[in-house]
Amino acid sequence: MKLLLPKHSGQAIELASQALIEQIREKPDSVLGLATGDTMVAIYAHLRRAVREGLETSSIQTFNLDEYLGIGPEHAYSYHRYMREHLFGEVNVLRSHIPDGLTKDIHRHCLAYENSIQECGGLDLQLLGLGQNGHIGFNEPGSSLGSRTRAVRLSAQTRQVNRSRVPGTGEVPPRALTLGVGTILDSRRILLVALGPAKASPLQAALEGPITAMCPASALQWHPNCQILADPEAAQQLLLRDYHLECQQDVES
Ligand code: GLP
Repeated sequence: MKLLLPKHSGQAIELASQALIEQIREKPDSVLGLATGDTMVAIYAHLRRAVREGLETSSIQTFNLDEYLGIGPEHAYSYHRYMREHLFGEVNVLRSHIPDGLTKDIHRHCLAYENSIQECGGLDLQLLGLGQNGHIGFNEPGSSLGSRTRAVRLSAQTRQVNRSRVPGTGEVPPRALTLGVGTILDSRRILLVALGPAKASPLQAALEGPITAMCPASALQWHPNCQILADPEAAQQLLLRDYHLECQQDVES
């Protein structure tokens, strides 16, 4: 796991966006794992700008991490809608895959989602945000670290946090479909971005705590090619923060 501690959140977003854009330049038919949430909004804005400036994305395929169960693509909470608004409205890709929150056969749909990832050759790069309770995708505390794509129940905390993101919309659906922790770990490369003080405690647990289902993001400690970008507020509780900053200076000097 490689931790990078940029000077401010703008720089973290800049670095994450650059990594994403370089991935697409180096492998124009990349298979990308995409996340949602506030952290990703600015990253997708950078990607849209790169596309306006000539970046070619027509051969990439994308797989979203998750979607709420029981709502359609037009619903205010829908990640189909989020992706349309923040990315696909302007960025054409060969094929985008997002779990279907209205599927009639959850088990079959989840299996088919996993199979589609395999058929595309696996995820080249998985983008991740970090939940305030240490979730990745919608793998809440208690998720098996080997879990695959499935339906999950959301915690009260996650529903509350996600409700405030779309004010005036009412209750957040209680269930969702998500790539499993095991599915995420199968990605060839992972990039997690953590910004702001609400991420300080889950980031500390994920990076410095034990690998445990109580903090699904801690499973990333196993991944051989995982980069974490954290702004100063998110990094403030890291016990080894100064050590990591020294390591960073070694690389920069
Ligand atoms: C949601 C998503 C996660 C995302 C998390 C963090 O719960 N399902 O995939 O990582 O939000 O979002 P934010 O970046 O807004 O803190």
